[in-house]
Order: sequence, then structure tokens, then C-alpha cells
Amino acid sequence: MTTSKIGRAEACANIALAKYWGKSPLGDNLTAVPSLSLTLDALRSRTEVKWCTDQEQDEVVLNGEAVVGRPLQRVSHALDLVHQEKQERPKAKVLSLNNFPTAAGLASSASGFAALICAAAHATGEKLPSSELSNLARKCSASAGRSIFPGFAELLAETGPGAPIAPANHWDVAMLVAVIASGPKPIGSTGGMLQTAQTCPYYSAWVKDAPAVFDEVKAGVLERDFERVAIHMEHSTRMMHATMITSLPPVIYLKGPTIELMHEIAKRRQKGHPEAYTMDAGPNVKVFTLGNHVAKTQAFLESIPGVEKVIICRPGPAAAELSLDSSLETAPRSRELS
Ligand code: PMV
Repeated sequence: MTTSKIGRAEACANIALAKYWGKSPLGDNLTAVPSLSLTLDALRSRTEVKWCTDQEQDEVVLNGEAVVGRPLQRVSHALDLVHQEKQERPKAKVLSLNNFPTAAGLASSASGFAALICAAAHATGEKLPSSELSNLARKCSASAGRSIFPGFAELLAETGPGAPIAPANHWDVAMLVAVIASGPKPIGSTGGMLQTAQTCPYYSAWVKDAPAVFDEVKAGVLERDFERVAIHMEHSTRMMHATMITSLPPVIYLKGPTIELMHEIAKRRQKGHPEAYTMDAGPNVKVFTLGNHVAKTQAFLESIPGVEKVIICRPGPAAAELSLDSSLETAPRSRELS
């Protein structure tokens, strides 16, 4: 096997239309419920991994800042996974750039770990199939297992790799990210879901009912049925946030403008606007709409007090290796930032 020492890759973030929240008791970072996502073309991570035999520790720089502590351990764990069949791996220098706020509920761990796994595999000179890349990324951050794939992807409960369910050109849709706060979140998703599973009295109901919601969202996506996706996607997000809010202590990511937007979008859909909301472990509202309605949705979101900016995302490509000629310095930029 020839071993190149440097690998580069780029991966897009994804947003779950049917959410996962909670780990399986089987361990190995398997999820308790199935999830379904849309890969987002405008939110990207670019990562370079360089194996260095003369180095004693892994060194990681994210957006120009050295990474230490638990986030560094998570990167080292990802590098171990890619090297698992070898006895000892060399330490690595890792450089990564996101073109959007990190750790703010914009799925930076999904694009970040997907890009990291692809870049590390590239650096070992191995061509791993996308199912294997997905399984490795999933072990680092479950949602990252979906970011390996283009368009629409699923990650089933208690199952290793994710899988593609429809390509990016399957449906002319968009996801508009209304950024309400771009600072770090009060609690990370790993800690938040543990707290929920341990203390929320309704957590078992969520685990029981989430698969039926996932089935509805999946059928809606495959049929390109906007209303079906809208109803069940919103239900999934409210069910997930209900378990968070009713944990002890509570895990509350939503802010005032988030709730305001939920009310406004419900009213607008009744008036015929194809718009539906979904929120992750953060206050930002992602609004799902049809491709020909983007300008109207953007104008509406920009008129809401508390919305800092709007990022327009379309169905995105698969994670991919980058040629070593490509520049990491040119952070991929979103096409439209307002
Ligand atoms: O990928 P993780 O383990 O950081 O969890 C993310 C979970 C949500 O984004 C809230 C939902 C989802 O399915 O992506």
C-alpha cells in the first residue's frame, strides 16, 4: 500500500428533517432513534490531516485557533479510528476551517468530523467506501455519519453507517438558516442528550414515537410532498425540544425570536407560503422551503427583529477528498450571506 502523508477533504453540514436525540444503550455512539437529513451546500468544513512521525502529540487548529481539552481528544479519537488496524499511528497536524459559526447549533460537528474522517483516510492513502466513511464519522458525532452523503440521507437507529436516500437534484428545495445567536451554546449536544435521557420523564415516549415520525418525513421526501414533510418535520423538532425542556436541569436552546418565528411560520403556511421550521441544539431556525420561494422566505426572515443574518442553503454534495493543490486558506464561502 502506498502511503501519502497528507490528505484534504471538504464536507457540508446537514440538517435533520427527522431528528435524532439520544444514544442507544448498545453503545458505540449508536443512536436511539432513526434520523433523516438534508445536506446543506453553503455550510462547509475543509480539513487537512498531515501524519508527522517526529511529533509527540496531535496538533489541531480550527479556524486559526489551537484546539485543546475535550475537543482535541475527540479529534484524536477520530484519527485512531481511521488507523485502527495499525498497531501505532503517527501523530497528526490537523488544520480545519469552517465557513460558518462553530458550536452554535449549525451542525459544525457534522461537517467537521465528516471532513476529518475523509481527510485522514486520504492521508493514509486508503480508498474507503462511503458506507465505511459514514460509519467512522458516525462514531465521532452521530450526525456526521449523514454528512458523507449528498442530498437526503438517513441514519437508522442502532445501525452503523448512514445511507443516501435521494440525490441532491431529487427535489428543488432550500433550507434558509436564520441565525439568531452565533455564540457557543449553553451545553453541547452530547451532554444535553445524556441529561435528557437520564432525567426527562417523556424520553421513553420520544424513543417510541420518533420512528413513526421518521417514516412520515421519509415518505414525504421520496414523494416530494412538501406539506407532509412540513407537518412531520416540525413535529419531530417540537418532540425533541419538548424532551430537552422537560429535563432536570432543563436543556433550553430556544430563544425569544425562535418562538416568534415558530408562530409566524405557522401563520404564513396557513396563508399558502411553503415554509416549515426546524431547530437543533441551538436557537437558530432553519426554514425549509421550495426553490422558487427562496426570495420571499429570505425577505420575511430578514424582517424579523433578532435575526442576525440569513444563510441560504440548497441540497449539497457528498463529502469529498480535495486535491493537494487546492487552498485550505480559501475557506469555502456561502454563496449568499445577507
Ligand atoms: O451529531 P450530534 O451527536 O452532535 O447530535 C446532533 C443532534 C441534533 O443535531 C440535535 C439532531 C440531528 O439529528 O442532527
